[in-house]
Amino acid sequence: MDLGLREKVAIVGGASRGLGRACAERLAREGAHLVIVARGEDELACAATAIAAETGTEVMPVAIDQSRPEGIQTIVERAMERFGRIDILVNNTGGPPPGRFDDHDDAAWQAAFEGTLMSVVRLCRAAVPIMRTQGWGRIVNDTSFTVKEPADRLILSNVFRVGVVALSKTLAREVAADGITVNCVCPGAFDTDRLRAIFREQAAASGQDIEDVRREWKERIPIGRLQRPEELADLVAFLVSDRAAAITGACLPVDGGLTRGLF
Ligand SMILES: NC(=O)c1ccc[n+]([C@@H]2O[C@H](COP(=O)([O-])OP(=O)(O)OC[C@H]3O[C@@H](n4cnc5c(N)ncnc54)[C@H](OP(=O)(O)O)[C@@H]3O)[C@@H](O)[C@H]2O)c1
Repeated sequence: MDLGLREKVAIVGGASRGLGRACAERLAREGAHLVIVARGEDELACAATAIAAETGTEVMPVAIDQSRPEGIQTIVERAMERFGRIDILVNNTGGPPPGRFDDHDDAAWQAAFEGTLMSVVRLCRAAVPIMRTQGWGRIVNDTSFTVKEPADRLILSNVFRVGVVALSKTLAREVAADGITVNCVCPGAFDTDRLRAIFREQAAASGQDIEDVRREWKERIPIGRLQRPEELADLVAFLVSDRAAAITGACLPVDGGLTRGLF
């Protein structure tokens, strides 16, 4: 299926590894040019070089902290300087630290608010006027299965990602007439650094062996395995294509059947 992404310009957040990197690779294979973002300069530069070499598209790394307002402005300015347009925005960044209610002080709540919710607000605010002028745009916000079923020991993620879903649903209606769609994807349990950190934290908190924690997670997933980052990237590539013009305001899980809720 031709997704029609050749020569489109996409910003992909948190793209030096994990889910963001898989999304970036997938969009580049479809012929999109990329602005990829993460804080660690060396790892990000390596990712940009590798993706460009594999796909032949232009990949510009912007090493910046997405939780800071000035960082967001820089991403958009650099994208416009280099490519003169922004067609696709994949909002993705690192997850907030795990823990229970008693574990987090005001500073932790504020950091999670800035990193998880405000980074999305600010990137959308900067990109939407450009997409409006173009009469076409695609925004996909990476959230978590926890927006459908809050997870134990992930209270910061549970709270602020629901805000991202509410933002997406509301914004989707406001920008629909401008040819812009806004959707959320909800990853379940993907074998990435982030999930391995969660396994370590749960093992330390419960006194279990980390392999037992991993096995218990797998047993909760009906398909019987962790998901692969490419499986999320395939959905993101479809959602940012012309084919998905009628899908907006949606919140779609890629979780191997993990969540039990009806919606
Ligand atoms: N893996 C899963 O199963 C799963 C499930 C549900 C939800 N999620 C969520 O999906 C997102 C991506 O997950 P992942 O597994 O790919 O995580 P990951 O492997 O830890 O990768 C996170 C990426 O984001 C970058 N990043 C982190 N903080 C950043 C910041 N403040 N500004 C810019 N870039 C930043 C990291 O690079 P630097 O550290 O160099 O900045 C890295 O490239 C996370 O929010 C995670 O909580 C993941």
